[in-house]
Amino acid sequence: MKSKRLMIVIGGILLFLAGSFFTEKKEEKVEDIPTVGVLQFVSHPALDEIYRGIQEGLKDEGYEDGKTVKIVFQNGQADQSKLTTMSQQLIQKNSDLLIGIATPAAQALANSTEDLPIVLGAITDPVSAGLVESNEKPGRNITGVSDKSPVASQFELAVSLLPKAKKVGILYSSAEENSKYQAAEAEKAAQAVGLTSKSYVVPSSNEIAQTVQVMADEVDFIYIPTDNTIANAMQTVVSEADKTKTPIIPSVDTMVTEGGLATVGINQFELGVQTGKMAADILSGKSDPATTPIYTFTTGDIIINEAQAEKLGVTIPQNILEQAKKTDDETD
Ligand code: TRP
Repeated sequence: MKSKRLMIVIGGILLFLAGSFFTEKKEEKVEDIPTVGVLQFVSHPALDEIYRGIQEGLKDEGYEDGKTVKIVFQNGQADQSKLTTMSQQLIQKNSDLLIGIATPAAQALANSTEDLPIVLGAITDPVSAGLVESNEKPGRNITGVSDKSPVASQFELAVSLLPKAKKVGILYSSAEENSKYQAAEAEKAAQAVGLTSKSYVVPSSNEIAQTVQVMADEVDFIYIPTDNTIANAMQTVVSEADKTKTPIIPSVDTMVTEGGLATVGINQFELGVQTGKMAADILSGKSDPATTPIYTFTTGDIIINEAQAEKLGVTIPQNILEQAKKTDDETD
C-alpha cells in the first residue's frame, strides 16, 4: 500500500518536472526574437511622441513589439546616475540594438558600449555631443536621427509676428550639450534678423520660474531651444510668462500646443518613425551604423497657437495664417 502511494507521488513529481521543462522550452522560443533596448532621458510630450513614433517605425518594417521584436523601455527621469545604471541593464538584458532618446540618454548608452549598435533618436547635434565623428560618416557603432531645428526660419517667423521686438532672451539648461549648440545658432539667427539677444542659463529646473520672471522685465520675447529640462517644465514657463504677456517662441510643435506662440518645427512623431526605421534596417542587416549617415530633416511646419496669440494681443498676418497648422488641428 505504502509503496503504491509513493509511486503515485513520484509519478506526480515527474509529470510536473516534464511539464515545467516543456513550458520553459516554449519561453526560450519567444526569446528568439531580437531585443531592442530603449533609453529615454525624461518624460515630456515631445520625447513621448518620439517613442510612440519609434514603435510605429519598427512595426512598419516588420518588427512589432511582443510579436517579432521585444522592446525593453527605460526612462532615466533626468537623473544621470539612473541613465548610467539603466544603460548597463539594457546591455545585460542581451539587447541586440540600443536606441537613445535625447542627447543625455544617447551619451550614457555610448559610454557603456562600443560594440552594440546604437540608434540616436532626435539628437540636436551628434558631432558636438561627441557621439559621431561626422554626420556623413559616423564611423563607429552609432548612427540615427538629428532633430536640428530650422533656427533661422524660426527667427524670421518671430519677427514677422512680433515686428516691434528688439531683444530676445534665450532660455536653456546648462546641463544639456544639445542646448548649448542651439543657443549659439540662435544668437547668430537673432542678429541676422536685427535683434539683440541674451542667454538665460538655468542650472536645474528649480530656477526656471524665477529666471522667467527676470526675463519678462528684460526681453521682448523668449526663445527656447529643444531643451529637455525646459520642455519638462513648459507649464511653469508659460504661466510665468503669461503674467507679463511675454510671448514664447519654442522649437517644437508640442511646446506651442502647451502655450508657446508659434514656431517652425519638425513633427516629433515623424522623428520617431524615422528612428524606428533606421533601427529596423540595422537589425535586418541592411545597414551598418559606421557607414550610415545621420538623417536630418530639411523642412519644418509653421505651427501657430491662435488662442495664445489672442491672449497676448498678437495679430497673425494673413499670409502666415494661410500656411500654418493650428495647434487645434494637431490631433488629426
Ligand atoms: N534634441 C533634443 C536632444 O538632443 C531632444 C528633443 C527632441 C527635444 N525633441 C525635443 C527636447 C523637444 C525638447 C523639446 O536632447
